[in-house]
Amino acid sequence: MVTICPSILSADFSRLAEEIQDVERKGADCIHLDLMDGHFVPNLTFGVPVIKALRSCTKLPFDAHLMVEHPETYIDGLAAAGVQYVTVHQEACVHLDRVLQQIREAGMKGGVALNPATPVSSLSCVAGQLDMILIMSVNPGFGGQKFIPYAVDKIRQAKALLEQAGNTAAVIEVDGGVNAKTVQAVKDAGATFLVAGSAVFGAEDRAAAIASLR
Ligand code: DX5
Ligand code: ZN
Repeated sequence: MVTICPSILSADFSRLAEEIQDVERKGADCIHLDLMDGHFVPNLTFGVPVIKALRSCTKLPFDAHLMVEHPETYIDGLAAAGVQYVTVHQEACVHLDRVLQQIREAGMKGGVALNPATPVSSLSCVAGQLDMILIMSVNPGFGGQKFIPYAVDKIRQAKALLEQAGNTAAVIEVDGGVNAKTVQAVKDAGATFLVAGSAVFGAEDRAAAIASLR
């Protein structure tokens, strides 16, 4: 059982609501929202007001991936906007434990994303407090990049870390370069939340693209 999360980074930004409704009809399970601030990553997307405006266009859960500095300043706004999952970057959080508490206190599920060069062991102290580990399989900032193969091993390590902590409820998400060619390896390694931007929104037949990931 996998959860397919199309990333609207590769959608037509002039028609976001229609694009979300289109992938919902075509089998998506969750909508992945990439917040970028032009500081943590060299790209800028959208923030809480846009997410709030999009909330009523779909019943699917919203999965916010915060590629921003000071992610703690966005948490309350995201909760009020109706977001279900919030993932912060380990590299952006000086006080990761506190941010994770803040996300849960706001009534959302909390995850931590790891850049390709950040080791899984950096999460060993907080493994018991996580609802999700997001393994980045590209360097964050842009859609359509090539999958980094060593991310597969990090998915296995993340799975082992959660098992060791007795945290069987947490899920592993993978983001970047996930497509029909790379998907089997990430599923075999233990990822169940699959983010796909270009592989879904760039496909001529989006229903077939989602089905092939599943
Ligand atoms: C990249 C974003 C991804 C992006 C993935 O920084 O976090 O969610 O949309 O795009 P694809 O699937 O095209 O690699
Ligand atoms: Zn993302």
